[in-house]
Amino acid sequence: MFEYKKVISKDSGRKESRGIKQLVYYSFAGYIISFVQHCLSVFQKPFMVYGYYNKVTKKYLRDVRISSSVEIINKQNFDLGDNVWINHYTRIDASNGVKIGEGCQIGSSVGIFSHSSHNAIRLMGRNYMKVPKEQRVGYITKETEIGEYTFIGSGTYVMAGVKIGKGCIIGTNSVVTKDIPDFSIAVGSPARVIKSTLDVDKDYFDNPIVRESYFDEDVIQAYLGDRLV
Ligand SMILES: CC(C)(COP(=O)(O)OP(=O)(O)OC[C@H]1O[C@@H](n2cnc3c(N)ncnc32)[C@H](O)[C@@H]1OP(=O)(O)O)[C@@H](O)C(=O)NCCC(=O)NCCS
Repeated sequence: MFEYKKVISKDSGRKESRGIKQLVYYSFAGYIISFVQHCLSVFQKPFMVYGYYNKVTKKYLRDVRISSSVEIINKQNFDLGDNVWINHYTRIDASNGVKIGEGCQIGSSVGIFSHSSHNAIRLMGRNYMKVPKEQRVGYITKETEIGEYTFIGSGTYVMAGVKIGKGCIIGTNSVVTKDIPDFSIAVGSPARVIKSTLDVDKDYFDNPIVRESYFDEDVIQAYLGDRLV
């Protein structure tokens, strides 16, 4: 198990005081801090709010950090893992489900969609508003998914139904229109894969802290296996 104190030396008071903040947050006081921040977030924007109650899994996630300025539509369909970080002014339309894996980082002013009426309102004309959602011809309703420990750059838009794999980086200002495989670096509009995050990460795999902390144990095992050959 990774222990903060083992890797932070006692050389500077500032680092020590950060350690104390963490001790307080991971005690019972952390729940109170989170509750107070959630109350303040109604009036004060933007600041990072710690902790989140996942209404899908009905679990409280202590290491989630979401800006008070983030808008989430239909929180009851918004399923996220712990250690997720979502920056200021991002909008998440979870009307038909948005799933964000553990440890994802979502930059500022990102848009993640799970519906679109771009054809339906034209096709249904004035009848659009008169019929239930399921009967609207051409109305797109699809769950959108982002794999664990993926990074979404600021200003990116992710279209309804897209599945982005784990361990990816999506470059700033991209438009993701199609599925992106695990460990891809993808950029642009439309987003295209240009590299692999594994090529970046493998340079750090000899570092014992990274070996212990890296999110995907299979990747580490494969790396160690290759080195034995
Ligand atoms: C995607 C990213 C990580 C790539 O970094 P990198 O691995 O150092 O890649 P490079 O800068 O070498 O770029 C590789 C190529 O992709 C292009 N590229 C990089 N980012 C791009 C982007 N966001 N959109 C379009 N093209 C991009 C580069 O121009 C370069 O093209 P070339 O080969 O024709 O010269 C980085 O550009 C990025 O977008 N970071 C996110 C920053 C961010 O959103 N921070 C938010 C903090 S909240």
